[in-house]
Amino acid sequence: MRVDSAVNIDDLRELARARLPSVVFDYLEGGAEDEVTRRANREAFLRYAFVPSVATGHVDIDLSTNLFGDPVAVPWIVGPTGLNGVFRRDADLSLARAARAEGAVYAHATAANVPLESAATAAGECRWFQFYPWGGRAAWAALIGRAQAAGYRALILTVDSLVPGNRERDRRHGFAHQLRVTPGFALDALRHPRWLADVGLRGMPRMENLAVDGRERASAGELASYARRERHPEFRWEDVARLRELWHGPLLIKGVLSADDARRAVAIGAEGVVVSNHGGRQLDGAIATLLALPSIVQAIGASATVVVDGGFRRGSDLVKALALGADAVILGRAPLYGVAAGGEAGARRALEILRDETRRVLALLGCPDVRSLSPSILRRVDPASGIEPVDP
Ligand SMILES: Cc1cc2nc3c(=O)[nH]c(=O)nc-3n(C[C@H](O)[C@H](O)[C@H](O)COP(=O)(O)O)c2cc1C
Repeated sequence: MRVDSAVNIDDLRELARARLPSVVFDYLEGGAEDEVTRRANREAFLRYAFVPSVATGHVDIDLSTNLFGDPVAVPWIVGPTGLNGVFRRDADLSLARAARAEGAVYAHATAANVPLESAATAAGECRWFQFYPWGGRAAWAALIGRAQAAGYRALILTVDSLVPGNRERDRRHGFAHQLRVTPGFALDALRHPRWLADVGLRGMPRMENLAVDGRERASAGELASYARRERHPEFRWEDVARLRELWHGPLLIKGVLSADDARRAVAIGAEGVVVSNHGGRQLDGAIATLLALPSIVQAIGASATVVVDGGFRRGSDLVKALALGADAVILGRAPLYGVAAGGEAGARRALEILRDETRRVLALLGCPDVRSLSPSILRRVDPASGIEPVDP
């Protein structure tokens, strides 16, 4: 199957699985420990059923919205995900171009394999930069200054990864920002010749945004030890306040799961939060993001931007989160499956699928646009049956 005949995101996932050695696919797919949270993100969508309005005559569905004053064609954001170069050499640029073509926001990661300046040229006007507070304060100021100069509109500060997640698939494979070449891995790589030629034989991609220990660009191995050393687990809200002063644009705090933390983020001057558990890759057992969303919308939704991510693979998933009050959704693995399977065309196919599914769901619901979505189109149901109503 080729990417253009993929009917849904799961088809792209299967194509990605076929193209990648299992070490690499597991890095893309895996979560922390028992992967309870990774699965819970998906299962949470089953807790809501749609209650459509019929015969409304809405056929021209409008997905456009506005994020921090910028018009966007669709309320979703591609990425941020680090180490994309391990899927395909030019994956960051392909994702940026696909987002631009679809009118979506592109979010470039600190741990990307393409310099933020090159990604800025590939992405459209609406580009955001994801920031990890690694290194010392001088390193923070330098990286934030570069992102600002390259015209990134918003900064996403990720705060759920101050301690690395316990990703057991990666530990078993010996994968820690570098590939351990065991006989098993070598055999697996040989069975995936397209990946081997594109990535494997050229060595691990470098972390192009980070200068480590005075060297221009960090190799993945250098970065792994640097990140372990420089992660700053002692990072606190006072440091968020310092970053707030450094960044002169909208600031989103990513990794928020409670209404209290959302209020604290806004009180410190952030324009919004990303309700996220890092796709289940950090704290296993953390609440599913769709279930955390309503209380956070209630706490800050009237005055701040609420973005959510975790497990979005269908247009109907996107519609549920938007109906619950999210302003936009971050897509993590869905476009990664696409780019791993088929480069830029694959990433575009992922976005096309989600766009078409969302349009169809809105038409079937009798909703003309994403702005008119509200919780009234949803009913809480027992996830086991998928249809039995439960009390709100
Ligand atoms: C392979 C991979 C790498 C990621 N790298 C980063 C990163 O560098 N920074 C970050 O803030 N989030 C990172 N994330 C988390 C995503 O931004 C997002 O929160 C998550 O993938 C959403 O869940 P989903 O993959 O189920 O859509 C990564 C996720 C994946 C799958």
